[in-house]
Amino acid sequence: MQPRSLISAQDIAARVAVLGREIAARLPDGALTVVGVLRGAFVFMADLVRAIPRDVRCDFLGVRSYGAATETSGVVQITSDLSLPVAGQHVLLVEDIVDTGLTLRYLLDLLQAQGPASLHVCTLLSKPSRRRVEVPLDFVGFEIPDRFVVGYGLDVDQKYRSLPYVAVVDE
Ligand code: IMP
Repeated sequence: MQPRSLISAQDIAARVAVLGREIAARLPDGALTVVGVLRGAFVFMADLVRAIPRDVRCDFLGVRSYGAATETSGVVQITSDLSLPVAGQHVLLVEDIVDTGLTLRYLLDLLQAQGPASLHVCTLLSKPSRRRVEVPLDFVGFEIPDRFVVGYGLDVDQKYRSLPYVAVVDE
């Protein structure tokens, strides 16, 4: 399997800069807690928080979803919980990719139950054609076709996370 570039590092950097400014402009004033979904979102989140020109608190949710290697079953297990309280906070949930939407639906319900002041979602990638449940995406880096992608934090069997660009893996 040889990954082929789909979105270059330059295009990602340019889009992340725009997203950072949009997030700062559109989210309500006040303390902002950015919650990254591990492990796929760690690279995106590291770049994104540096592009948001306001103070942010950073936290992470570790998630494992059961299913076939390249598809979620929608059954989500939290492998590591938040370390900061989100009640009364403006929260931005940062995802690497929204595919069926099942993982995000679960995480939004989980966070909403903790009483944040507001809850928004930013995802680097979205595959709209694969959606099985409606999920609100406030900020989307790129919409992509129904292809399995790796790089910039995303993996297949823990490989390719450190590629600086997003790539398609040829079968
Ligand atoms: P969903 O619950 O179907 O929306 O899937 C969300 C999760 O599945 C993501 O956070 C990824 O971990 C994984 N995933 C879905 N599509 C891809 C892909 O193309 N490459 C790598 N991981 C993916």
